[in-house]
Amino acid sequence: MSEGVLVIGSLSLDMVFGVPYRPARGETIKADSYQTFVGGKGNNQALAAARAGAKTAMIGRVGNDSYADMIISTLQDAGADASSVIKDPDVGTGLANIYIDPQGDNSIVIATRSNENLCPQDIDDAMDKIRNSKIVVLQLESPLMTVTYAAQVCKEEGKIVLLNPAPAPQDGKLPPELLRNIDIFVPNESEASLLTGIKVNSKETALKAAEQLQATGIKTVLITLGDKGVIGLDEQKNELYAPAFPVKVQDTTAAGDAFVGALAARLAEGDDIKTALRFACAGGALATTKMGAAASLPTRAEIEDLMLSGRAV
Ligand code: RIB
Repeated sequence: MSEGVLVIGSLSLDMVFGVPYRPARGETIKADSYQTFVGGKGNNQALAAARAGAKTAMIGRVGNDSYADMIISTLQDAGADASSVIKDPDVGTGLANIYIDPQGDNSIVIATRSNENLCPQDIDDAMDKIRNSKIVVLQLESPLMTVTYAAQVCKEEGKIVLLNPAPAPQDGKLPPELLRNIDIFVPNESEASLLTGIKVNSKETALKAAEQLQATGIKTVLITLGDKGVIGLDEQKNELYAPAFPVKVQDTTAAGDAFVGALAARLAEGDDIKTALRFACAGGALATTKMGAAASLPTRAEIEDLMLSGRAV
């Protein structure tokens, strides 16, 4: 791999329940449907980048079960290099329970399992992957200490470091030694709200949150706002905005991952951020039109088609 996308992070098996509504506290309800899909935020982002046409590699840990093989072969089928995805002998593969309501909105509970064992040594052992990449993509389903270490090492190697702070820590705090090594920070509205204390629900509040996040040392902030598009600030504090593509939503799972993977793919190709943003918005929109995480991530041709026609087929 040369000058491509490297994703460091989680790989999971998603157990997806189609529900009439998302259950309240203490409530038991019956699902209308049940399916399993390959998922995990890191894995989804790697698949999205590979399907968007980028040379892609992944560093992470799967477990000692059959889910591991399914996840690795999905990455390989997409053309991604999975040689630094370690099979952990001591623990099972990460799992996610996902409840999808009829509007396509979800609630997710993750059991991190093998992902919890990703350690700094795993990063050091894959230095060739880091050196051969242009942009490194991180999320927060792996131990914070490892993510912080990875960001530091990748920055020292002169890479563009992108952090998708998902899931955001409940106390809203991320260590300064992580934030100072981040070039591009991509939270969604709820993550941006948790991390800044500003209720982000509009372009105006997103810009305020982006300003606050930039004050921590992050260079570029991009806040995804679902059907309101994406808004942010570049390194020179210029406003960035790209509208969402209108599509018929079936399942919003992994829409953010599709956005991040597609964005990284185009930045690795040398696109400027505005051009990359439009492509990423189309990728994110398409992921909502199908069920599942990995299964919903679009190819480059599908993304380009939506960009041309403005409509998903
Ligand atoms: O972002 C979507 C992903 O979050 C799912 O695939 C699930 O694994 C959870 O990690």
